[in-house]
Order: sequence, then structure tokens, then C-alpha cells
Amino acid sequence: MPAFQTVRGMRDLLGEEAQAFTNIISKAHETATLYGYKEVITPVVEPLELLSAKSGEEIRQRMFIFKDLGERQVALRPEFTASIARLVTTALKNEPKPLRLFSVGSVYRYDEPQRGRYREFWQSNFELMGSARPEADAEIILLTNNLLKSLGLQGYAFKIGHIGVIRGILTQEGVEEKTQNAILQRMDKKEFEEAFKLAPTEHCRSMLEGLLQLKCDNCFETVEKIKAYVANYEKAKTAAENLGEILKLVMESGCPIQTVEPAFARGLEYYTGMIFEIYISELDIALGGGGRYDRLIELFGGESTPAVGCAHGIDRIALALQTQKATLAAAHGKRVLVLAVNDALKVEALKIAQMLRSKGVVVEFEIMGRKMGKALEDADKRQVDFAVIVGERELKEGSVMLKNLVNREQATVPLKELAEKIKS
Ligand code: HAM
Repeated sequence: MPAFQTVRGMRDLLGEEAQAFTNIISKAHETATLYGYKEVITPVVEPLELLSAKSGEEIRQRMFIFKDLGERQVALRPEFTASIARLVTTALKNEPKPLRLFSVGSVYRYDEPQRGRYREFWQSNFELMGSARPEADAEIILLTNNLLKSLGLQGYAFKIGHIGVIRGILTQEGVEEKTQNAILQRMDKKEFEEAFKLAPTEHCRSMLEGLLQLKCDNCFETVEKIKAYVANYEKAKTAAENLGEILKLVMESGCPIQTVEPAFARGLEYYTGMIFEIYISELDIALGGGGRYDRLIELFGGESTPAVGCAHGIDRIALALQTQKATLAAAHGKRVLVLAVNDALKVEALKIAQMLRSKGVVVEFEIMGRKMGKALEDADKRQVDFAVIVGERELKEGSVMLKNLVNREQATVPLKELAEKIKS
């Protein structure tokens, strides 16, 4: 007999890896309890028709589909949302709204296996049914923040957008739904040129292209720019206003939204409103994502029910925590002094110190008000490894001076690369 292996894309989880999974799942349960979400357990195998109804081309092509022995066309669930929508139109039909539902389990997609991308993976999934208000959208983002915070994940950021802005433009430009979906699929993959080619008119194309230019550092400013940009597109404008309201609720609750992306789309076809994903700088794959889908329940034959939800990728969160633990260990022992060249730059220097600590770098801040030479001399004596010198000229270009106090080399380093540079 040959030595059997797991099927490609499937994994055994042993020891610490299995424990990490259990820990994330138990924190997801705690979050569900704290926010009043009731658990539902649905089958792994569902009718193909249900799962493919509004999932989108990307997922439809990656499902594990088979005929059971009774000749039924079935598939392994690629996500939870369709199953939950089925429940809301059947067993939970008469439950009073809002309905808060939580699930956790394995899902299946025939993705190309690589780090953080598997064919069997786990999600913790939250759905909130029955409210169209921005408070509901905010709740989904805030509970995601609660989960990630409780796991000790560092420096994660939310990317947020609104599919209603893009669909609002496309609808007013007379683009039919099928073409809209094809455009959004490509935008999701960041194949913007391919996406914009599908626009039926030059004007529509340039409207879509213009979205890419609206993003700026401040998320509220970005929302204002979107509002002005789509001022003549009634539905898109309402969508941008809605995004602003959600953002306000979320930010004022202390959640770290870092980017509003006007041209952000997600692969799933059922979204109608706000959409979001979570990232950390160490990995370029989403740790979770979700959004508003107000028409799915209706499509499944239920009463018109606004809904919003999200799923957290447990495998990827485990990978993120493990990566951060490893970099923390690598950074451990290296000491860094952050100092400003003058008093006017003190606040900027403090922000940089905080940013480095959030990435696991051990930082001391110059608090004695000493001149540069004295501070460096002292750092040298105390065997500090690096000095980060915050100066006006470098800062204007988004950089600082990094001085290696061991070999005396120094270089200008962009802020984005600073933590990695110190760790390496
Ligand atoms: P999704 O973005 O397709 O959303 O998946 C959610 C998360 O599952 C992703 O952010 C990622 O962390 C994880 N994930 C996706 N594919 C893989 C893979 N091949 N390997 C490992 N992890 C993966 C949904 O599934 C929606 N149902 C979310 C939702 C709920 N929207 C509204 N309600």
C-alpha cells in the first residue's frame, strides 16, 4: 500500500496549530455571546442551486460539486451566507427581527493552494438580518474588531468601500446587471483595465477610472471626494452618504479604519451596500471580509429583509498570529531609540514610536530633552542597536533617518519599511 497523503489543498492540524484554531473558535463564540448572536449549525452539503444563486462567477467556478446517490446536484458549502439566508426564509421565517446569527465551521473552495489559501478552510460567520440602518453595518465591523483585538492581533486595518457607489454609476449609465457583475469581478481582482474595457461608453469608462483617483489618507476626506464626484448620480450619492454615516459610527467607537477605497469591489455578487476587508502589513491576503446584502432573502423567496454580515478566515488569522509571534521573537532583544531633531517634531516622533511598538519593535523614546549628540552618546553606552532620527526633510518624503549604532551605518528609510528594516 502507498503512504497516503491528504488531498491537495486539505490539511491535518496537529499540536499547536490545532490549539490555535480552537482558541480562535472559542474567542469567536465569546464575541457572538457578547454581541447577542445565536449559534446555528447548518449542513456542509447543500443544493447546488442554493449555493450558486448569487455567489458570483469566481466562487461558482471553484465549488466542489457532485451528484449524490439519489442523483441530486449538490455541493460542499463555499461560505455560510447562502445557508443562513435559506434558514431565514424557512425555519426562522417567523422569528422577530432583528435576527443575529453566528456559525463556525469548514467551507470548501477549489482555490490554488498556497500560503494562507487552502481548499478546506474555516470561517466564523456573523449575519445580522432585519436592519437597513448604518448602526447594523457598524455592529458587524465593531464585532470583528472585538474578535481580532481579543486575539491579540497587532496593527490590523480595515479597508472599507461601498458597492452602491459603483453600481449607482453603472445603473445610471445604463449598464445591465450581467455586465455590472463582470466589471465588479475584475475590479475585485484589481484588473482595472480589463474591468473598465467592459464599460459600454467612453463616459462610463472615465467615470469608473476617476474613482481610482479619489482615495486619500484621510478616510472622511475620501468620502467627501466621492460625494462630490457622484453628485449627479442620485443612487451613488446616497450610497456615499451612507458610507460616511457608517464610518462616523465606527471611527467614533475607536475602531481602526485605515482606508476608504472608492474602487473597492468584492467577488461575491449579493452585496448591495458597504463592503469591508481586514489586512495586516505582514500578509497580503484578507483575514476576513463582509458587507451588506439587502436583496438575497427576497431572492430566496422570503420577505424583503435588509441584511449585513461577515466571515473571518480562521486559517488566515492563525497564520497572522503565528507570523507576528515570529517577528516579535526576531525583534526581541533589539533596542531602538526614537528622537526628534527639534521640539516641533516631537508629536510626529511619538507617533512613529507608537507605530513601531504596534509592530512588535521595542522602542525607547527620548524623554530627557537632550541634544541629538548627547542622546546618541547615551544610547551608545546603553548598547541600544538603532536610532530613528525624525527630521523635517526626511519626514516630508514619508521617511526617517535610521542609524545603526553598532556598525555606524545610516540610511534614509521610508516609514512603511522601517519596522521590517529594523527586524531584518
Ligand atoms: P469571503 O471574503 O469570500 O466572504 O471570505 C471570508 C474570508 O474567508 C476571507 O477574508 C479569508 O480570510 C477567508 N478565505 C477565503 N478563501 C480562503 C481560502 N482559499 N483559504 C483560506 N481562507 C480563505 C465570505 O465568505 C462571505 N460569506 C462573508 C459574508 C458574510 N458577507 C456577508 N455575510
